Amino acid sequence: MAAAVLAVLVATLLVLARGGPAAAATEFVFPGFARANVTTSGAAVVTASGLLQLTNETNEVFGHGFYPAPVRFKDASTGAPLSFSTTFVVAIVPRYLDAHGHGIAFALAPSPTVPAAVAGKYLGLFNTSDNRGQGRSGVVAVELDTAKDEEFSDINENHVGIDVNGLRSVSSAPAAYVDVGTGSLVNLSLVSGKPLQVWIEYDGASMRLEVTVSPAGKPRPAVPIVSSTVNLSSAVADDTYIGFSRANGAASSSHYVLGWSFLLGGGRAPDIDLSKLPALPSSKKTMPRLLIVILVLAVVLVLVLVSGAVAVLVKRRRRFAEEEDWEIEYGPHRIRYKDLHAATRGFRDVIGAGGFGSVYHGVLRRSGAEVAVKKVSHGSRQGLREFVSEIASMSRLRHRNLVQLQGYCRRRGELILVYDYMVNGSLDKHLFDADNKPVLSWERRAKIVRDVAAGLLYLHEGWKQVVVHRDIKAANVLLDADMNGKLSDFGLARQYDHGSKPQTTHVIGTLGYLAPEMSKTGKATTSTDVFAFGTFLLEVACGRRPMERDDNLDSPGLVDLVLDRWKAGRIMDAKDPRIGVCDEADLELVLKLGLLCSHPDPRRRPSMRQVVQILEGAGTVPETPPKDLGSNNRLFYGYSESFDEFATIFLASETTTVTTQPSSSHSNDEQQERISG
Ligand SMILES: *[C@@H]1O[C@H](CO)[C@@H](O)[C@H](O)[C@H]1NC(C)=O
Ligand SMILES: *[C@@H]1O[C@H](CO)[C@@H](O)[C@H](O)[C@H]1NC(C)=O
Ligand SMILES: *[C@@H]1O[C@H](CO)[C@@H](O)[C@H](O)[C@H]1NC(C)=O
Ligand SMILES: *[C@@H]1O[C@H](CO)[C@@H](O)[C@H](O)[C@H]1NC(C)=O
Ligand SMILES: *[C@@H]1O[C@H](CO)[C@@H](O)[C@H](O)[C@H]1NC(C)=O
Repeated sequence: MAAAVLAVLVATLLVLARGGPAAAATEFVFPGFARANVTTSGAAVVTASGLLQLTNETNEVFGHGFYPAPVRFKDASTGAPLSFSTTFVVAIVPRYLDAHGHGIAFALAPSPTVPAAVAGKYLGLFNTSDNRGQGRSGVVAVELDTAKDEEFSDINENHVGIDVNGLRSVSSAPAAYVDVGTGSLVNLSLVSGKPLQVWIEYDGASMRLEVTVSPAGKPRPAVPIVSSTVNLSSAVADDTYIGFSRANGAASSSHYVLGWSFLLGGGRAPDIDLSKLPALPSSKKTMPRLLIVILVLAVVLVLVLVSGAVAVLVKRRRRFAEEEDWEIEYGPHRIRYKDLHAATRGFRDVIGAGGFGSVYHGVLRRSGAEVAVKKVSHGSRQGLREFVSEIASMSRLRHRNLVQLQGYCRRRGELILVYDYMVNGSLDKHLFDADNKPVLSWERRAKIVRDVAAGLLYLHEGWKQVVVHRDIKAANVLLDADMNGKLSDFGLARQYDHGSKPQTTHVIGTLGYLAPEMSKTGKATTSTDVFAFGTFLLEVACGRRPMERDDNLDSPGLVDLVLDRWKAGRIMDAKDPRIGVCDEADLELVLKLGLLCSHPDPRRRPSMRQVVQILEGAGTVPETPPKDLGSNNRLFYGYSESFDEFATIFLASETTTVTTQPSSSHSNDEQQERISG
């Protein structure tokens, strides 16, 4: 009995010594909150496992978890602040590392629900008007701040601070701890998702508030990370509540308190047995199941798409690579189709059409150079390859009297050749369709003739291999802005044929320019070029086509016509009547040279070197026509046979030299096209 009375007495004395009735309830230890005495408000809940979860994943909410009974931090009789000690374990588990909200606070507040507070950066403790520290909100807090807020002069986005009646901390420091073992300062990430332990000690006598943090499980550091003097007597109300506060802003994260102990009136708060704390939800669980499903689906979808794209790319690459292998060496001359499409504005501006295809005008974007873009359709890949190789070697030929091939582009069965653009078009337009063009003077014509001779000589002798033009004619002589003559389309005729033997092709040159021996051998040589050049000379001097479309079939061809005049001693009668007064000697020279070049016997024709010498006045032509000149020409120029008969002879002779392919009907069409075109 006496013992019982004594016990009651001692208890009463103890209660009195601790400063009144309120102090009686203010020692507790909560290893987890399952059976703890806390009041939650806002979004805060105590989870089934016993975690105090302050906010859920909704934005712009706050949550409070407070001890339900008020605490008096003031000595009832003296009014002096009372010491307290508390420790707790928290974990901040961000949804996204780069957007994790504003942190968490341990707070002394006048109400366990802090009714005037707002969410976001005010931590659920203050509002927009009382956050600067001037207010009388009665709030003292220790913040674990994970956002750098300039408004509150925050030092960084990972710091510990002491707040008195406002969010502008009276003292703060980057989150760190002094390692007990090494004595060195170690940085601490507040948003690591791992449990942290915080110790707060307040000494009533010195009014020092000291805060220490460290990773949970490490020995308690001896040195506090941040401290400040706070007069709790004046800073907080008589009835003050203690607990945790946290608010979500635009970004949300999960803030948990795992355990908490508190002691008022001196001495250290009881230790928390960390092994008894509830486990944090596994990081998988924090992610909603729907999100996981969506993520998995998205990943699968992306994988499918990526592998599909890779497959397509690889396939395309392979398709191109197959052709690129052999094209590599022609690389510099390849032009991208895209660029050509842009240069020609989608192949709109047609400037010509020939046996090979259409020609378009274009301007290369990069250089601004004007170009003629020739589309050549080509069915056979085999032939195409040889064609491209020939074209590529042609593009290495450089002479001022050759139309420069800039490059080529190959797309599907189509070959596109890019040449320098010649403003004045082809010579035949000036010679024959001169309706709205001034008549070319002899001086101009003489210059063009010499230009073409120089270009052809270069093809025959100026290059490491002999290049036979195969299709010399006025239509293939182009004129630049200064009316300089330039040969175009060299090298085309040979490979244009769909894959037959290169030496013997069905379609060579243009009817009217074909040397007679072509019908027997089918071979184009420099000599057949000279023959065609001879016809070209006559064309220019006489202003007539080698065979007019409306010619009477019995009328003599151009060669015979001029030859007959020469034999009659009146060669100048053959001169183009539109040419007025001119250097008659020069014109006569050109006429005679034209006839010599058109000699039916290839051995009697001059070489291009001789031709150039004669044109330069360094060689001579005979006064009278050589006897055998023209004897054999009737077959080709006399039109004693109709074209069909001619074609029959021509093709028949050809079948003896070439293993004819089904494409011979095609070449017949081709022939037809060239003659009509
Ligand atoms: C919780 O605290 C209140 C107020 O002090 C008290 O009435 C209640 O009995 C406590 N409950 C427990 C389980 O400690
Ligand atoms: C989060 O808490 C708020 C406030 O209590 C509530 O309205 C909301 O439904 C909660 N959201 C979730 C996902 O639990
Ligand atoms: C802000 O909180 C204080 C108390 O701390 C209160 O007096 C004031 O009315 C609140 N202001 C607003 C705008 O809610
Ligand atoms: C620790 O944090 C401070 C401030 O945040 C920083 O200046 C320092 O470089 C950090 N030290 C280490 C070792 O990361
Ligand atoms: C602390 O605040 C109380 C109440 O305002 C005051 O009486 C006391 O003098 C203050 N103590 C100090 C050391 O300033």
